[in-house]
Amino acid sequence: MAQLWGGRFTKETDQVVYKFNASIGFDKRFYAQDIKGSIAHVMMLSRQGILTDVEKEKIISGLEGILDDVRQGRLAISDKYEDIHSFVEAALIQRIGEAGKKLHTGRSRNDQVALDMKLYVRDEIRILDNVLEELLHAILAIMEENLDTYMPGFTHLQKAQPITLAHHMGAYFEMFKRDHERLNDILKRMNTCPLGSGALAGTTYPLDREYTATLLGFDGPTLNSIDGVSDRDYMIEFLSALSMIMMHLSRFSEEIIIWNSNEYQFVEIDDAYSTGSSIMPQKKNPDIAELVRGKTGRVYGALQAFLTTMKGLPLAYNKDMQEDKEWAFDAIDTVRDCLILFAGMLGTMQFRPDRMAKSAKQGFTNATDAADYLVNRGVPFRDAHGIIGQLVLQCIEKGISLDDLSLTEYQKASPVFQLDIYDAISLKTCVDKRITTGAPGAWAMEKTLEVYRRYMEEY
Ligand code: ARG
Repeated sequence: MAQLWGGRFTKETDQVVYKFNASIGFDKRFYAQDIKGSIAHVMMLSRQGILTDVEKEKIISGLEGILDDVRQGRLAISDKYEDIHSFVEAALIQRIGEAGKKLHTGRSRNDQVALDMKLYVRDEIRILDNVLEELLHAILAIMEENLDTYMPGFTHLQKAQPITLAHHMGAYFEMFKRDHERLNDILKRMNTCPLGSGALAGTTYPLDREYTATLLGFDGPTLNSIDGVSDRDYMIEFLSALSMIMMHLSRFSEEIIIWNSNEYQFVEIDDAYSTGSSIMPQKKNPDIAELVRGKTGRVYGALQAFLTTMKGLPLAYNKDMQEDKEWAFDAIDTVRDCLILFAGMLGTMQFRPDRMAKSAKQGFTNATDAADYLVNRGVPFRDAHGIIGQLVLQCIEKGISLDDLSLTEYQKASPVFQLDIYDAISLKTCVDKRITTGAPGAWAMEKTLEVYRRYMEEY
């Protein structure tokens, strides 16, 4: 046991209490951010004449040494300290002596931890955003190659109208594009520096909070010291954005699982991203997609748990807030791994255009277009709907598709039908006629792709 606050106490902390209270087991993860924050603090203290230049130099080189040694594995972060802040300070004092004891001047662990978490989340958002970029590239590549890969579009998981694989993938591009924007939006809103808020009421030292904020890449200092130490809104926004990413990945996974099934065979997941069964030799299971779908629960859990922790907390800092860490770390690791694995699975997956087109034809996805054919030749829509409905019924009875009916059969249903009906209901025509913005027709998709390409260039 080694703590920073022994002075006021006459008894040792109970061992079990110590363990329950300590956060070193998990907050050691942001040692680099803790040291970075301390270096900025010390630079500011010396600039303000609170520390001498010599003290500043000593402390900074001491901190840099600790950072390097921890990184290189020469210095282990020991669990005998209460938290990462205590560990770094103790290691510093051990290395440089008296000057090290001045590091914590004008600072509390409350503003220190608020800063560390912000620095850490900011770094992680940037990493996640890069991983998200890879996924968007993988989706865009599939889109570029599949402008004329026809497939059924679904509503209620029933075949509805023909679309293309590019169009379907475009829906996911939109989702992950919003995720990218959401992450960056959070980054903007959270980018204020809490350091200098002290325990809750600022400090009596003449700190230059603007200077530390600038040194650490913030837009400025937080403007209320109580909020500075007790705000975890950004963490909740972040967990919410992570939940949304998982929701998107989960929907995508679900579709891949369906598409990879024996019944659909729209895709074949690469061997490297599948697993086998211990008993059934024929099996090749989509475990990665299932795990991504499954892990969505733990990220939602993190959001729900931390929302509940924050509910009803009086101002300012309360130890409850230490609970932000394990949830956030788990959620960050989960989302990062899921994004990386998912992008890998997607990039190596084989699509089966033949199966997709066959499925689109067999599912009467061109029935709306057949009705439109009649409408364009003067038949009222309601009548056209009825005529095509009857033809669909005939097809179901015979086990064929609308494309397989003879012209005589068509003309029996309505004399309006001519030979050009076959071209009018071909998948290509059905798709290519849909050229409004956002629709699957090649012309519309080409325009959308142009926007997406530019988006990725400017990412
Ligand atoms: N481990 C604490 C946390 O994560 C650090 C802040 C402790 N501050 C305090 N006054 N006990 O929130």
